[in-house]
Amino acid sequence: MLRIKGLTKRYRTGDLALKGIDIDVPDGQVMALIGPSGAGKSTVIRCINRLVEPTSGSITLNDTDIVKLGSADLRRMRRRMGMIFQEYALVERLSVMENVLTGRLGYVGFWQSWLRRFPQSDIDEAFRLLERVGLDHMADKRADELSGGQRQRVGICRALIQNPELLLVDEPTASLDPKTSRQIMRLIRELCSERHLSAIINIHDVMLAQMFAERIVGLRLGEIVYDGPPDKLTPAVLTSIYGEEDWSATIRKVDEEAPDEEADNVVPFEVPRPDRDRLAGLT
Ligand SMILES: Nc1ncnc2c1ncn2[C@@H]1O[C@H](COP(=O)(O)OP(=O)(O)O)[C@@H](O)[C@H]1O
Ligand SMILES: [Mg+2]
Repeated sequence: MLRIKGLTKRYRTGDLALKGIDIDVPDGQVMALIGPSGAGKSTVIRCINRLVEPTSGSITLNDTDIVKLGSADLRRMRRRMGMIFQEYALVERLSVMENVLTGRLGYVGFWQSWLRRFPQSDIDEAFRLLERVGLDHMADKRADELSGGQRQRVGICRALIQNPELLLVDEPTASLDPKTSRQIMRLIRELCSERHLSAIINIHDVMLAQMFAERIVGLRLGEIVYDGPPDKLTPAVLTSIYGEEDWSATIRKVDEEAPDEEADNVVPFEVPRPDRDRLAGLT
């Protein structure tokens, strides 16, 4: 369970980005954090992994107060959180396999990682993950040869290979087309339920949030203005989050489309097995 209590963040510039927010995320829950640009969504995620230092409040993950951790403990704590970003932050000139394995760098020693040597068990796990997301046939492709959706799937594998307890996902679909966006959101949702993982997904697309999250928290100017199920997001609520707009076209009717009934499911499909031995030559 992740427990955020009274979290505030004032940036050095004076901006009060979060005004004392409380959020509890039970194990296994997929929560979407929605709100307009500047609402504070990224600040919440960055306070949880302490890329940004909270000004006050507490954040506990299974009873460890993240805010109080020293640097060695913080490094260990970050391994318990998988992070997925909009820019997918892949290393362009490394292969798909190597990019996934970089998710393990926290575990292997410096020289080992510098030489890019990974234990066979890590390579096997990377294959299993790539297979799960339908990319095992691409294990030896360079990251810069991939499409946006494929890159994001590599980013997901890289976050999962460290076997996290919590996924922190910041605008995972911001540069993807609508169909690919759905595939990626569906994949994240499925992986969370397979692995009993909880996730906080920052997303500004209301419809995607409604389709794939079980709970929605709406932020506006650093304050929570909605916390509840996707089907209770009425036009009035959306106006309180985003301001005046005609929301009638945006709100998904609950029975319109169930997430897992779509034909464009990305996984699984049969792919030729790559040459394991050659890839194992990484070691
Ligand atoms: N590094 C920073 N320094 C100063 N102000 C920042 C910084 N990052 C974000 N902010 C401000 O904090 C507020 C929330 O930003 P952010 O968390 O990025 O919102 P969102 O992710 O919802 O778009 C905004 O007013 C933004 O300008
Ligand atoms: Mg943001």
